[in-house]
Amino acid sequence: MALITKAPRGTADVLPAESYKWQHVEQTALSIARDFGYREMRTPVFEHTELFQRSVGETTDVVQKEMYTFEDKGGRSVTLRPEGTAGMARALLEHSLHNDALPAKVAYLTSCYRYEKPQAGRLREFHQFGVECFGAAPPQADAEIIALARTILETLGVTGVSLHINSIGCPSCRARYHTALKAYFEVRRDELCGTCQDRLDRNPMRILDCKSPACADIAKGAPVMLDYLCDDCAAHFEGVRACLTAAEIPFEIDTRIVRGLDYYTRTVFEFISDALGAQATVCGGGRYDGLTKELGGPELPSLGFAMGLERLLMILEAKGTSIPAPPRPELYLAPMGPDAVRECFAMASRLREGGVSVEFDIAGRGLKAQMKYADKLGARYVIVVGDNELAQKQGRLKDMASGAEEPIALDDSLYTTLYQKSLDRQLAGMADLFGEELADGLEK
Ligand code: HAM
Repeated sequence: MALITKAPRGTADVLPAESYKWQHVEQTALSIARDFGYREMRTPVFEHTELFQRSVGETTDVVQKEMYTFEDKGGRSVTLRPEGTAGMARALLEHSLHNDALPAKVAYLTSCYRYEKPQAGRLREFHQFGVECFGAAPPQADAEIIALARTILETLGVTGVSLHINSIGCPSCRARYHTALKAYFEVRRDELCGTCQDRLDRNPMRILDCKSPACADIAKGAPVMLDYLCDDCAAHFEGVRACLTAAEIPFEIDTRIVRGLDYYTRTVFEFISDALGAQATVCGGGRYDGLTKELGGPELPSLGFAMGLERLLMILEAKGTSIPAPPRPELYLAPMGPDAVRECFAMASRLREGGVSVEFDIAGRGLKAQMKYADKLGARYVIVVGDNELAQKQGRLKDMASGAEEPIALDDSLYTTLYQKSLDRQLAGMADLFGEELADGLEK
């Protein structure tokens, strides 16, 4: 039978040699979000199609062209989530989380699905880290969420990103803007793509993020929303800028940022990288004050953002930013003979119970092959255990980096010796980071 060896186009596997990078990025993001008061929420990978139609919007590229929608065996239309916000809002309302203390702050790590043309930084299955904050109206909420995104990027060592912000107003000021946009595009209606000709009547703002080069070209000279903000929206945007300025968070006002999803109101923002080429946005978000009401719940002024994890990792790679290496096994036990196998198995079990990472031979190989394998694993130490070692309860601890060997008792003191060694190494690491004095203090 033919071997199926190719994953679907636009998807990617994360191999064991790379997964520690993902874990580092994910854990860092979640832990910083926790410091800002966000707790993780998990929602299903598929939702009722209607959820995305009503939140992301009927006239968006995402809903019109990119969703993985299918009928399940019960004849219901379901869709693999193209983004995280809609599901988070649905879950908040379903479980009445808004009846607890507000704002309700949630964080998530999700896979998302969009039928897009795959290219560097653009996949059909991709991953996001995101946060959503429900029930916070004033501009300091916008500034705080931007600060959170920035703290995560900075902590990860992401360089070369700039923050672009804009305001796309509220439904009342947007009505005036739509009239101006319609007038602008109407005269060139025939040059727009078919989808945008339809958008011109239904939602002209969506023409601004059409990916067709002809539409993008025409959109360049379109009126900008900032010129149409009502007094309240203008004051809100001013408040956001004042907070960012007070906290010395650099930003650029960018009237081209309109975001590709319909739920946004007022502040929208993107972090744009100089290392990603065409798919330069690593993080996008903004306010969506009307979403919970649109989904049938109460009106909750809310906001959030999501970062693309593939793009984040691409930047770290492109910039050569170091990611802490995964822990290596502390010890490899190399048994020679059946008695030694049993003894090593018992030793490995006890060491693992004590939290030491140990590997031992489970493939039944000879010494040479075992040493090669231990080397490949990057084990710090190896102890070869044969009949002699068992009889004398004495072995030799080989330091794989230096090749140095020292005698080691194969009794309970083995555990303390190994703990002491790993402790010594941690203290040496701390001394490198924080100086000898602190490390000495900790030792005492
Ligand atoms: P978005 O801008 O559609 O916003 O996606 C957020 C991020 O996901 C993008 O900035 C990008 O890094 C990544 N991304 C999007 N599409 C792809 C793709 N095809 N391949 C790889 N990465 C991709 C949202 O999804 C909103 N839900 C964000 C949000 C949360 N707004 C408020 N709360």
